[in-house]
Amino acid sequence: MKEFDIAVIPGDGIGVEVTAIALKVMEKVAAKYDVRLAFTEVLAGGCAIDTYGEPLPDSTLETCQNSDAVLLGAVGGPKWDHLGGNQRPEKALLGLRSGLGLYANLRPVKIYDELKGASPLKDSIIEQGVDLLIVRELTGGIYFGERGRTTTDEGYASAFDSEVYNEFEIARIAKNAFEAARLRQKKVTLVDKANILESSRLWREVVVKVAKHYPDVELNYMYVDNAAMQLVKNPAQFDVIVTSNMFGDILSDEASMITGSIGMLASSSVRQDSFGMYEPIHGSAPDIAGKDLANPLAQILSAAMLFEYSLGMSEAARDIENAVQSVLKQGYRTGDIWTEGTEKVGTTRMGDLVLAA
Ligand code: NAI
Ligand code: MG
Repeated sequence: MKEFDIAVIPGDGIGVEVTAIALKVMEKVAAKYDVRLAFTEVLAGGCAIDTYGEPLPDSTLETCQNSDAVLLGAVGGPKWDHLGGNQRPEKALLGLRSGLGLYANLRPVKIYDELKGASPLKDSIIEQGVDLLIVRELTGGIYFGERGRTTTDEGYASAFDSEVYNEFEIARIAKNAFEAARLRQKKVTLVDKANILESSRLWREVVVKVAKHYPDVELNYMYVDNAAMQLVKNPAQFDVIVTSNMFGDILSDEASMITGSIGMLASSSVRQDSFGMYEPIHGSAPDIAGKDLANPLAQILSAAMLFEYSLGMSEAARDIENAVQSVLKQGYRTGDIWTEGTEKVGTTRMGDLVLAA
């Protein structure tokens, strides 16, 4: 029997609630395919501060490093808001991403037919169908470039941040995008600002070279300001978007809102081998924590991504996605996606329904 080691970081607030449910779903699917999952639960975020005095203890990072994949809930909450920058729960996220070398963030944005009414976009736009994937570079660019403060000759305070990318980093993320596109609609859009930025011009040169190895995938380009507009005007035109760290940060938040609820969206952060960290895009939601109100579907769909990308079990991933869709089709909704005429259920009930499906 195949066995995989999965590090589990439930974190804080609703992270704990939705992760418990996702683990049940994973166990059920693993049993179907005769695979054994060995879960090791570790602390990061606020709960780690309470127990160890730091958001990301070495032991947590080590357990993650020795596993095949990581499932993360969410970290943070008002209890730790008074703490300074390096001691905050959210510091654990950056530490995990850089410590584990997770350079690619994949965020699928999909509207389920059943949830079209929950989108803030007009029906006529949503009707065309939205199913895209943002591939964001996660460990380079302006968030990691040289920064500092100086003073001008006139005595004005001045500050700078630098966008730096090299060929290796760009080619590496581009490959993720083309590989993903091959399994989808075979279209990659490079989003950049090549009309102004030298770093963007390097992105274009390198991505064109990588594209030569994927003749079956169509490549086009879009300036980031236009992409921001096109995402709300005609999101159906996109399949895979590949872009730099900062552009990806901004565009993926914009794109996620197309679906209407943050409680539906999963993400993965991966590197060149099959290892990855999987998490819902939402936070610990202190306003609804402990009330059985959280939508567990984003975390369940993150588990599906874990099966697909880290365990090579695409069929198991499809099973989970189909179960989620079937529960929506049956008319069950948590509060965040509830609309007139559907049945409102809590976190636990939603989890049980997905398990049954
Ligand atoms: P949030 O995503 O936790 O919540 C935003 C709003 O969406 C809230 O009204 C919440 O109730 C709702 N919401 C979120 N997830 C939901 C779900 N699954 N089902 C139903 N409703 C849901 O973002 P917020 O409030 O800005 O941050 C709360 C804490 O979480 C902060 O400490 C923040 O730093 C942290 N955070 C952690 C993240 C992570 O661990 N990856 C990501 C974002 C925020
Ligand atoms: Mg962001």
